[in-house]
Amino acid sequence: MNRSPFANPLLAKAASLARGAPRHVAVIGAGSIGPDIAYYLKSALPGLKLTLIDIQQPAIDAALARLRGYADKAVARGKLDPAAAAAALDQLEGSTDYNRLADCDWVIEAATEDLALKRRIFAEVEARVGRDAVITSNTSSLPAARIFAGLQCPDRATVTHFFAPAWRNPAVEVIDWPRADPALLAWLRRCFAATGKLPLTTSDAACFMLDRVFDNWCNEAALLLSDASAAQIDSVAAEFVHAGPFFVLNLAQGNPIIIETNTLQAEEEGAHYRPASIFRSVARWDTVAPGKAVAVGDALRARIHDRLLGVLLSQTVDILDRGIGTGADLDLGCRVALGFKRGPLEIMREAGDAECQRILRQFVHDRPGMPTAMRAWVGYQPLERHVLVDQIDGVKVITLRRPEALNALHDQMTDEILAVIRRHEDDPTVTGFVIVGYGTKAFCAGADIGRFPSLLGDAEAAAQYARDCSRLLVHLDRCSKPVVAALNGMALGGGFELAMRCHALVAQRSAWMQLPEVTLGILPGIGALAVPYRRWPAAGAVFHRMLRHGERLQAEQAHELGIVDALADDFDSLMTLAVAQVQALAGRVPRIGDASVAPPAFAAEAPCSADGRALSAGVVALIESAVRDAAAAPHLHGALEIGYRAFGAVACTAAAREGIAAFLDRRTPDFGATG
Ligand code: COA
Repeated sequence: MNRSPFANPLLAKAASLARGAPRHVAVIGAGSIGPDIAYYLKSALPGLKLTLIDIQQPAIDAALARLRGYADKAVARGKLDPAAAAAALDQLEGSTDYNRLADCDWVIEAATEDLALKRRIFAEVEARVGRDAVITSNTSSLPAARIFAGLQCPDRATVTHFFAPAWRNPAVEVIDWPRADPALLAWLRRCFAATGKLPLTTSDAACFMLDRVFDNWCNEAALLLSDASAAQIDSVAAEFVHAGPFFVLNLAQGNPIIIETNTLQAEEEGAHYRPASIFRSVARWDTVAPGKAVAVGDALRARIHDRLLGVLLSQTVDILDRGIGTGADLDLGCRVALGFKRGPLEIMREAGDAECQRILRQFVHDRPGMPTAMRAWVGYQPLERHVLVDQIDGVKVITLRRPEALNALHDQMTDEILAVIRRHEDDPTVTGFVIVGYGTKAFCAGADIGRFPSLLGDAEAAAQYARDCSRLLVHLDRCSKPVVAALNGMALGGGFELAMRCHALVAQRSAWMQLPEVTLGILPGIGALAVPYRRWPAAGAVFHRMLRHGERLQAEQAHELGIVDALADDFDSLMTLAVAQVQALAGRVPRIGDASVAPPAFAAEAPCSADGRALSAGVVALIESAVRDAAAAPHLHGALEIGYRAFGAVACTAAAREGIAAFLDRRTPDFGATG
């Protein structure tokens, strides 16, 4: 179930939501996750008043000390400036007095997983807060219908399930249960997305979506202990996850949680969900840390592998058959919240239908009662995994959603954007398209750098990669319907190259553009060496600096130069402008000219970045000559081809090897030795 009118939570306009940003939030429960939720809220909304409530004053004192520790550590590591840290701790109080809730506009309960206790708390809360106050519970398992059964106004209540550590883990499940007001859900989703979270809507099934995966994954691992050690199981699990189930259980002291959540699932859905009895007798597992492994024989490895994959497949088909969540959210949530290397649907696709069928058949044979596939395998795969598609006034809004990589483009995402455009291009009810980034920070942080190492040293493969990445961009060049880029944040490298092939650009004032490739020892190969000089010839000198020095271009300056067509003060106005631009361009889509151009000469300057770091002279020379050749090319096609080949050439340099390795190792590249 999902009654949200928009897949991208930020498309629900603030003015339509009847509630503004929260001013006073209370978090009830100063245990482990409550203070982390408080810290997230205070970091994201520094002006917010936040009250942490608990029945024990020492717990409150310890929690406040913990939050001060987080802020100090962030300052010491240079992640937060001292003023922001002070703001995060300002207007933060602890209290044992429920009367402090009186003027709260949102109360988040994060107490022990005990239904009777939660109901008592909510009765106390409802007796004190105003009619419009939002009430949410952070339960990981108890259905909203049970928790809120006694509320007088259940329409203002739901479950918001955070994941540890709640101040850093972006995932939060928002439960769409029948009695919740859809406007409340839209407000919560928008509020989360606007504060850097990734809200995932689920129905009100026990344990919701992600805990059904995690709890049963751990439970299955424990059931396997009759045949293998915890360390062996974690070693095999490393194929799927960054940290094995027993390692995570140790970290989270999670044994009691699995007992609780699987008992609940067993009560609701059948004895096959019963928790493994070993959870009651073991406090800590003897296992290996992530990255370490112990020996496992082939037969045992296959058995563990198949059982773990079996439970994953079984939960996946059940979640999708029952509409507990969407396939795209499930994959993303498993990666972001649970530390899976790939989402279950991605694993399914890679394993293939026959292998999945074999594993699931064996699994339900070994574990009678466990859910099995109710439809053909292909029917489980979502149409889009990395983009969200919405419609506003006849315009399709395509949201790039890879929050874990600042919406960086990879092949699948590019293919999905192209497929959405192709699907609707001939639909007379669709005027055109807007492309925007998910969240508030990035439109798109460029091409996925993780893909680059495999291209290094192979000019042909790298040039072909650039050509392949350009399929979408070349399609935009001749697309009959307008496509507008709505820059809601940074647009870097390939992200800016995508935006510059859209037929108009609109941007939030805070947005900025950059071609940082030269700082990575490479160059932008999918249009930036050719397109901007043909499209905005008067800004040639600015593009020279962007390409040679990685200089940033702020939205306001881009607007003055005519690169950005209109500026917006906030996200809502950005989307209004973007949709209006599409409508204005309908039937008169501008094209990039074919004729050669004469960009300004490059000044003789030292190869160094805008922030003063030495760059590779060889790479800068490649950029300059490709820009000159592309400008002289008599057709756009030929100019683009020069860019693809320049990317192929740069991929064979020592500078590229050093720059890419440095990014992936999170260090500053040293181009001194590479030239
Ligand atoms: N490809 C793949 N992953 C990317 C990415 C890209 N282009 N840009 C950012 N990411 C990832 C980061 O690796 C990081 O992942 P992690 O949390 O697993 O380490 C995550 O997105 C968040 O980025 P982070 O660097 O932690 O955020 P920040 O706010 O400190 O810095 C940037 C933001 C954009 C300045 C920095 O990420 C960056 O320089 N990215 C590369 C941009 C680029 O060169 N693009 C052109 C590529 S050709």
